[in-house]
Amino acid sequence: QTGYVTLDPSFMNTAACYSQITFVDGERGILRYRGIPIEELVRKTMFVEVAYLLVHGELPSEEQRRNFSTMLNLNSMLHEDMRHFFDHFPRGAHPMHILSTMINALAAFYPNVDLKSMEDDIDVSTARLISIVRTMAAFAYKKSIGEPVVYPRHDLSYCANFLNMMFDSPVRPYQIHPEAVRILNILFILHADHEQNCSTTAVRAIGSAQVNLYATISAGISALSGPLHGGANQAVIEMLQMIHADGDVKKFIRLAKDRNNPFRLMGFGHRVYKTYDPRAAIIKKECDAYLERIHYKDPLLDVAREVEEAALTDPYFVERNLYPNVDFYTGILYRALGIPENMFTVMFALARLPGWVAHWKEMIGGETKIVRPRQIYIGKTPAETAGVMESREL
Ligand code: SDX
Repeated sequence: QTGYVTLDPSFMNTAACYSQITFVDGERGILRYRGIPIEELVRKTMFVEVAYLLVHGELPSEEQRRNFSTMLNLNSMLHEDMRHFFDHFPRGAHPMHILSTMINALAAFYPNVDLKSMEDDIDVSTARLISIVRTMAAFAYKKSIGEPVVYPRHDLSYCANFLNMMFDSPVRPYQIHPEAVRILNILFILHADHEQNCSTTAVRAIGSAQVNLYATISAGISALSGPLHGGANQAVIEMLQMIHADGDVKKFIRLAKDRNNPFRLMGFGHRVYKTYDPRAAIIKKECDAYLERIHYKDPLLDVAREVEEAALTDPYFVERNLYPNVDFYTGILYRALGIPENMFTVMFALARLPGWVAHWKEMIGGETKIVRPRQIYIGKTPAETAGVMESREL
């Protein structure tokens, strides 16, 4: 009764279940954005081009890419009144909570949130969201370490600008390494969309009620912050640190198999992939290559490899088709980039923005009806409640 019920699309309001954006084959480990394999996109494009592909349906021409980059740049500054919001968040506020609050507030600063005007300048609204949220994320980080914010620069690319806003400072100039920019592009591309996961389903459902883009994305951010979803990349590192400190990998494999124990192998298993997550395979390969190129040794990478090997040779995981997912190795690369753990899920959100925008656009653009899933009632029957009201008076 309480297992997963696969609802027929008619329950979920057909339009909500059909999409032209992303294809995932969980059995064969295939992921394609707008029909293009993820491996090709990682090899031959930058994140900004993939963002354009997801939102507009095609990769941009050189002129379209230039125009989109200009729009991202022109929309990268936060309204100065909004910048002062950061003065009022408590120091320890989690950046995901700051982000969802600030994004919702955008609707107050950019009044053309009614859908008609948004649809008219969808390019501006999309560019503003993808660009300004990157600035908000970097400002939230600077706030958390008590440093002055660093403004976006017109002469830097999307990912280079983010790294510069995160790590530059008046007394400690940040040296932008092309390798770091490349790795960040790859991570953002791999996280840019993933069909109807939990947070994207929230975005599609809310978008179907004709809610403005900013309020819709704010809800997506909240859904993503859950430890079983986007919060898993931070939970993986915390788990690897715990295993590294303890030293006994097999003990934690045993714990993860014990149904009476709440411990789960974070970064393992997936609702859809019943084979190796193609994104995890790419990230694992990049981990080895990047850490070697920058001569950076992370003991947690050795622990991660040991955990993977122990799990993938254990019948419990093999029988249940539990493999590393996108979150298992991602945190290792974020650590190598200098990104702090409390920003890991924010990174996921930044990358997922174009996917969410594409799904929101798909829901408001078509002839979709409001998403209204039907539930399968398994509560009390009339016979079980007969007579229960007889003795009651107002
Ligand atoms: C993301 O949907 C998306 O696309 C999401 C995402 C995206 O790009 O948007 O891919 C991003 O959210 C990736 C997932 C990140 N979360 C984690 O890594 C958290 C750890 N993973 C698990 O909590 C779990 O695997 C889920 C939540 C991801 C899926 O949970 P399910 O649906 O319960 O998994 P399942 O039905 O395949 O479980 C089958 C069995 C169960 O045991 P039995 O009932 O058969 O005894 O496998 C067990 C589960 O208890 N199991 C695990 C496990 N994951 C599932 N046991 C130990 N460790 C795990 N990680």
